[in-house]
Amino acid sequence: MPSLRVLVLQGPNLNLIGSREPDFYGRETFDEINRKIKAKAQELGVEVKILQSNHEGDLVDAIQEARETADGIIINAGALTHYSYAVRDALTAVRLPTVEVHLSNIHAREEFRHRSVIAPVVMGQIVGLGSLGYLLALEAICQLIEQSHR
Ligand code: DQA
Repeated sequence: MPSLRVLVLQGPNLNLIGSREPDFYGRETFDEINRKIKAKAQELGVEVKILQSNHEGDLVDAIQEARETADGIIINAGALTHYSYAVRDALTAVRLPTVEVHLSNIHAREEFRHRSVIAPVVMGQIVGLGSLGYLLALEAICQLIEQSHR
């Protein structure tokens, strides 16, 4: 069986993780987090592609392209989580199993972060566990895809 292909999308300002608001996001850098994701993918035998963009349209394009190139999506849309109907519509359109991840616990922060407009169209949400959230999301997505093929 060919290995599963998972697209990891990182939204605006996540490239600054490590130096940006460490009280919320910790000191682990963006590169360190991505290295952990790649190591976990290797352990699980999954092909992973990580894409970070500060631009909403790039994320929409990547989600649309994933129709042909990925079996599942892990997304941390950054602040776009809270207001991007374009990202939500793209996820709805491609209908790939998707897990939403946030490094910080968005429910314990400012009120505008409590609402995720993408949450209703993804399979699940992992928040507040730092980089571990991405690794758990990878495990989850593999199981969800396998289950859907049974
Ligand atoms: C975030 C939470 C968002 O509210 C914020 O805008 C981010 C990061 C997180 O990973 O905790 O950029 O998605």
